[in-house]
Amino acid sequence: MNMVRIIEKKRDGHVITKEEIQSLIKGYVDGSIPDYQISAWAMAVYFNGMTAEETSNLTLAMAESGSKLDLSSLGKVFVDKHSSGGVGDKTTLIIAPLVAACGVPVAKMSGRGLGHTGGTIDKLLAIPGFRVEMKEEEFLKQIQKIGISVISQTGNMVPADKKLYALRDVTATVDSIPLIASSIMSKKIAAGAQAIVLDVKYGSGAFMSSLEDAKELANTMVAIGKSLNRETVAILSKMDQPLGRAIGNSLEVLEAIEILKGSGPQDLLEVCLELASWMLVLGKKAEDTQDARGILEESLQSGSAWEKFLDFVAAQGGDRESVIKSQLYLSPIQTVYQAEKAGIIQNIDAKKIGLAAMTLGAGRETKESEIDYGAGVYLLKKTGDFVQAGEPIMKLYSSSEDKIMAAKVMIADGITIGDHEVSSSEIVSTVVK
Ligand code: URA
Repeated sequence: MNMVRIIEKKRDGHVITKEEIQSLIKGYVDGSIPDYQISAWAMAVYFNGMTAEETSNLTLAMAESGSKLDLSSLGKVFVDKHSSGGVGDKTTLIIAPLVAACGVPVAKMSGRGLGHTGGTIDKLLAIPGFRVEMKEEEFLKQIQKIGISVISQTGNMVPADKKLYALRDVTATVDSIPLIASSIMSKKIAAGAQAIVLDVKYGSGAFMSSLEDAKELANTMVAIGKSLNRETVAILSKMDQPLGRAIGNSLEVLEAIEILKGSGPQDLLEVCLELASWMLVLGKKAEDTQDARGILEESLQSGSAWEKFLDFVAAQGGDRESVIKSQLYLSPIQTVYQAEKAGIIQNIDAKKIGLAAMTLGAGRETKESEIDYGAGVYLLKKTGDFVQAGEPIMKLYSSSEDKIMAAKVMIADGITIGDHEVSSSEIVSTVVK
């Protein structure tokens, strides 16, 4: 294989063959193809795109670049779920026990957060004692026993994506739909998903800022799923303002607990019910999403989803009592952010608030940064609410006064107060199948 020829082909808008894609990925992972050639190829993909077949071939080549999880021995349909990054997105913490309580097992590998979006693994680690590292055998045993396990991605899964993603990050090639789609789907395939439900977010806090781009990403991923024989459904959900009210690890676990106990913010519940409904449909536990909703609501009302969460926490070493009492560590410096003037909140910019939460200590600026699990932001008001001048809009949690000061400046830039009524539109807009 001649890498220069492959770059040339993509640069000139031609299609790259399956064999060429396989050797490109293999060569990149084994080090025989250098970063500079892959960078040139990624930039050519950025400008010229990929056909559906090329994207599917790239996904499979990446999924097969390292170890894979085989769930077939467990004899059940495993439905995986993925949310394409968001602020305040604690849906996995809610959906995993909810769906497992309804009889669809959840075997999930999740990631840590970077930048303004949080990661499920960091949120789980806010529960004292919770273990996210597990040998495959123990992981499978737990799923057989209680129907749910969520652990961090193992070292050698999809190494091609780890290398390629890091390279895209520094070569301005992250925002390419075929590269994003193959990156996400390769991880789902390698983690053993037999069916996949995707939550593609759009808006200021998401990878895709417009609904059109989100639809294109959703269609691309659904097409990849189909071509690889994985039933795939994508929902498109809005991420203009943070989801729910809590942003930050302990705060988000506490909010997930509220939902599992039958209360909590409506926007968050709505996204969870929509995603979980599709998981029950693909997992063959419900005829359609309406039927699924009934089953899910019953599981929330009866307490079986909550019990499943407690079993899950205990099975992974987490302190059940702290969860039952909703007593998780919160950072000691707690203050409020007040409205500068009276009016209606026009917008709470998800990305800016996510970055403010990161600054308070809730997230990582670089892969090496330490997280303060008790740090974050709690929204006392949401878009469309009326506020008086000086009324608290958010509560801030941090371990440092300097961080609070810096976050307040960022928050001021992320909130608009005006005179217009803001109508609340549906958070889930479209389903792509
Ligand atoms: N999330 C991923 O996993 N990969 C991308 O390329 C973008 C978002």
